[in-house]
Amino acid sequence: MKTLLTGGAGYIGSHTAVALLEAGHDVAIIDNFANSSPEAVKRVELITGRQVSLYEADCADKDRMMEILGKEQPDCIIHFAGLKAVGESVELPVEYYRNNIDSTLTLLECMKASGISRFVFSSSATVYGEDNTPPFTEDMPKGVCTNPYGWTKWMQEQILTDAQLAGCREKGGWKAPLSVVLLRYFNPVGAHESGLIGEDPQGIPNNLMPYISQVAVGRRDHLTVFGDDYDTPDGTCRRDYIHVMDLAEGHVKAAEYALGHEGAEVFNLGTGSPYSVLGMVEAFSRACGHQIPYEIGPRRAGDVQDSWADAGKAKRILGWEAKRGIDEICRDAWNWQSHNPKGYE
Ligand code: NAD
Ligand code: UD1
Repeated sequence: MKTLLTGGAGYIGSHTAVALLEAGHDVAIIDNFANSSPEAVKRVELITGRQVSLYEADCADKDRMMEILGKEQPDCIIHFAGLKAVGESVELPVEYYRNNIDSTLTLLECMKASGISRFVFSSSATVYGEDNTPPFTEDMPKGVCTNPYGWTKWMQEQILTDAQLAGCREKGGWKAPLSVVLLRYFNPVGAHESGLIGEDPQGIPNNLMPYISQVAVGRRDHLTVFGDDYDTPDGTCRRDYIHVMDLAEGHVKAAEYALGHEGAEVFNLGTGSPYSVLGMVEAFSRACGHQIPYEIGPRRAGDVQDSWADAGKAKRILGWEAKRGIDEICRDAWNWQSHNPKGYE
């Protein structure tokens, strides 16, 4: 199978490229490097010993997309490209809606014109909103998002579902029935076990694991834990942290599934096991061999207390489940961070 990864130089895309290449599939990547480096793609080639076709391009550039799709003729597109910083999306909502929604609309138009009909999309558990109670199942109604980033995911899911409905009807104009797989990620963390690729956030990290990693390596002096007065055993929020290579392998299964099925299908990609913030601090301290210093701060606006997946549907239908536990997550995150203290720089 030939796969085209938009945003494939980014954190999840680069790990998925490794998993696809190792499963024997071909990979082409489109990225505008808004939040990534071509070095990540070189390292994917180093890990796998295989070549990747790399295009520097913006997914919202229709002429360029037509040219690349025409040249590559992929069997399946996995659409990672997007802006993802929650706080920044509150500051720059128009830029977030423009980039994330435009990219998806342009890709759909170009796929239709090029006769490409298999699409896997990076969605997020954030679409469950605040009112559902975990474990989240795919049939729960989507909730109310707390920020523009979350709404772009919510809206892209809707756009893709509507397009799929039209794309399975003749008058939709699609040359083959459209197949859409929506993957709702829980909290992707960790790195490839080689330590050659990993998460490389620009500026001060917003997310827990990269922040802890940078404290561990001495780039920041302590972690602030956002609230210890939640109704949980240790008072801190609980999340479903999933190893990025497990997530990557989930994409291989999802792309293979898209090839053999029609329709729009949603899958949670999570482990089903929650960990608290302090639980993660302890696990990371074990992995790096010293205690991570932390202070308790106020709650962060927009945080939900609990979020974890019911991972049963992906196991039943895709034959996929997460295999790596919290210790492997922290070991691999630390291996990446300690060997690349400044990321890809
Ligand atoms: P990332 O920023 O590392 O990767 C996204 C990539 O897309 C980057 O390489 C960026 O340069 C590229 N990009 C952005 N806009 C583009 C455009 N218009 N054209 C071409 N390239 C463009 O982020 P990631 O963590 O790898 O996330 C991948 C996808 O998964 C995103 O859509 C993100 O919203 C989604 N997601 C991520 C998480 C997470 O915790 N990391 C959770 C849920 C969903
Ligand atoms: C966040 C986003 C979510 C997005 C996801 C992508 C918010 C409200 N949610 O999820 O929409 O899909 O990132 O990865 O921003 N924490 C600390 N100190 C820190 C950083 C985090 O205590 O310095 C805590 C948070 O309060 C939370 C947990 O760690 O309880 C995980 O936070 P984070 O890694 O940012 O992920 P989410 O909030 O789950």
